[in-house]
Amino acid sequence: MADEPLVLGIETSCDETGIGIVRGHTLLADALASSVDQHARFGGVVPEVASRAHLEALVPTMQRALDEAGVKLADIDAIAVTSGPGLAGALLVGVAAAKGYALAAEKPIYGVNHLAAHVAVDTLEHGPLPEPAIAMLVSGGHSSLLLVDDLTNGVTPLGATIDDAAGEAFDKVARLLGLGFPGGPVIDRTAKEGNPASIAFPRGLTAPKDLAAHRFDFSFSGLKTAVARWVEARERAGEPVPIPDVSASFQEAVCDVLTAKAIEACRTHGVSTLVIGGGVAANSRLRVLAEERAAKHGIEVRVPRPSLCTDNGAMVAALGSRLVAAGVAPSRLDLPADSAMPLTSVSVAG
Ligand code: KG4
Ligand code: ZN
Repeated sequence: MADEPLVLGIETSCDETGIGIVRGHTLLADALASSVDQHARFGGVVPEVASRAHLEALVPTMQRALDEAGVKLADIDAIAVTSGPGLAGALLVGVAAAKGYALAAEKPIYGVNHLAAHVAVDTLEHGPLPEPAIAMLVSGGHSSLLLVDDLTNGVTPLGATIDDAAGEAFDKVARLLGLGFPGGPVIDRTAKEGNPASIAFPRGLTAPKDLAAHRFDFSFSGLKTAVARWVEARERAGEPVPIPDVSASFQEAVCDVLTAKAIEACRTHGVSTLVIGGGVAANSRLRVLAEERAAKHGIEVRVPRPSLCTDNGAMVAALGSRLVAAGVAPSRLDLPADSAMPLTSVSVAG
């Protein structure tokens, strides 16, 4: 509807410069520039390189987004920007740019939480999120289960990883298998050729004694070590490493634990909607297994399309749009970039 607010979102928390434009729940533009190729040879994101790439990409990406949506900066009702969590230098580029645009065009600005934006993006594909919902956020930096009563007002963390994030585990295992960076997409592809039941890798924090203290927490570092030990043993024995089987069995271990705990969280809290966001939500096996297990308990799974799961500007615009619609006060123009922004804060208070 033309009278819904037109919101622009700027994302620069890691290695993607994203600018998205939404009207209400409708996505009008999602322009992206990635510096992922510049980090590949280092096997991980180099913060300084990412910051410089954001600085170079921001203005052209902004122009592309405005052109794609067929609007001018003057038409925008509000600007949302990722305030945190993320890489400090990378966040600063987006926050500084958003302030410049907001000041020049005299628009309100919302500093928003990147993780809450990963949940909000689903509304662009599936419409308003039924609340309460359980959200599972699985990215390169985070793995959390959250109870969402009202996304614009804060979320309740139920559990999180106690060591590596799920995406980090994919990246580290891909590295030790010599598959390159980022690891998630390549393991996802390689696993399709392998047998997920061929190697019994450990399922972290699922033993009864661990469940008592860590019911909704995750641990992936033991799994990563188990994969490394298994590969080393094969190499020592002079036997070939079956990369597709290792990839499929590793992926199965991650997806098994993630989906089991997410469904358990829904059942414990009497919630019938599970929304999955973050880069790992692009994983094809995770999507299928979540659907399969949720269906048995009458739970609806909502996962945005893969391009909206990984970092992008549309997710920031989507959350900004929710905040504007809920009448939340904009942030002040001196809003900070907060690399450790907690999930309890969905936007920077005005
Ligand atoms: O949300 P995101 O784009 O950036 C962060 O905020 O971290 O997530 C990036 C992470 C990387 O670790 C990447 O390997 C993982 O998401 N990822 C995947 C897939 N696509 C991206 N993991 C598993 N399967 C995928 N298809
Ligand atoms: Zn992310």
